[in-house]
Amino acid sequence: MDKPRVVLGVSGGIAAYKACELLRRLTESGHDVRVVPTDSALHFVGAATWSALSGNPVSTEVWDSVHEVPHVRIGQHADLVVVAPATADMLAKAAHGLADDLLTNTLLTARCPVVFAPAMHTEMWEHPATQENVATLRRRGAVVIEPAVGRLTGVDTGKGRLPDPAEIFEVCRRVLARGVTEPDLTGRHVVVSAGGTREPLDPVRFLGNRSSGKQGYALARTAAARGARVTLIAANTGMPDPAGVDVVQVGTAVQLREAVLKAAADADAVVMAAAVADFRPAAYAAGKIKKKDGQDPEPIVLVRNPDILAEISADRARPGQVVVGFAAETDDVLANGRAKLARKGCDLLVVNEVGERKTFGSEENEAVVLGADGSETPVPYGPKEALAETVWDLVAGRLS
Ligand code: CTP
Repeated sequence: MDKPRVVLGVSGGIAAYKACELLRRLTESGHDVRVVPTDSALHFVGAATWSALSGNPVSTEVWDSVHEVPHVRIGQHADLVVVAPATADMLAKAAHGLADDLLTNTLLTARCPVVFAPAMHTEMWEHPATQENVATLRRRGAVVIEPAVGRLTGVDTGKGRLPDPAEIFEVCRRVLARGVTEPDLTGRHVVVSAGGTREPLDPVRFLGNRSSGKQGYALARTAAARGARVTLIAANTGMPDPAGVDVVQVGTAVQLREAVLKAAADADAVVMAAAVADFRPAAYAAGKIKKKDGQDPEPIVLVRNPDILAEISADRARPGQVVVGFAAETDDVLANGRAKLARKGCDLLVVNEVGERKTFGSEENEAVVLGADGSETPVPYGPKEALAETVWDLVAGRLS
């Protein structure tokens, strides 16, 4: 099989260096990548780097190798064009159909999906001109990833950072596999919790669990790809922020509750994928608990944590808000799942059977999604992203 052909457009911003890692990820995962930088991008990263990392020639001009008509051929043959970083100027040119170099020509001749990963100063991103250009590109079917919030060039911080290259890669992989998805969650705000809470015992120890957060991150990514505004409440996941998602980091169940309740206030849907500790130590030792020679350790007394899923299900922040829970079960999976759905009062419960290869830390999952309406949607063993898509299909159906 031919390798999928990707055009990596790079425009002139300091984040151009991060596109080197995106390029590596694309080539190492079996894509044939043609890098098309703009002239100004070459001020940041030189042609030799792009050429060496991609194994392909690099040019900014339509006048090189004219007999090959590169300004038409590169775009026509691409399976995906991704522009990272996309400057305000590049977004403006793309929105208005200008074609004064090889990259802008390629954007006009490409008929494949196009992904833009903008990076610029906050003022430039928020300017109505840029916002209108982004809206135009999205209306035409391009995927424009929301920039991340964080450190910008110099001492500034704000919205405008290029998302982590690993996350831009995830967007590319997804768009290549599924095409540009119907943005059926546009205008919706969804809240996803992910990871596992840690309940501290003393400054160095905690009670935790084995949840990796991968299923929650897959839910956040897929919801963002479907057009939603996504708030991800992440408990101890240690993964890069998914592109275009607002991430709130928390540690304990009590912190998770607070963050979920705050974000849920205006949310259309809340998905509780986090593994929340049911109990926490009754007391927190301000100093490290030391072993004492000849003495047994003190027993640890536990108290109940609040049940966040039950609380948000019983007291919906908005009428029609859809609440989704997760359950990991080892025995009597469906019967236990039905009982838990009723007990928690949520609309949907994703029931996993816990076992080898499944659920904790793996890339795959298998589940049944139970509905409060009696429905039962089996999701065969497969990527966590596929399960996430099914959850959003069911949520979208309940929202419309
Ligand atoms: N959950 C929650 N708050 C808690 C515990 C769990 O919101 N204190 C949520 C989880 O995010 C998940 C769902 O509830 O969506 C299932 O959690 P689980 O621990 O499996 O359910 P329990 O009610 O604790 O049932 P059991 O311990 O009997 O398995």
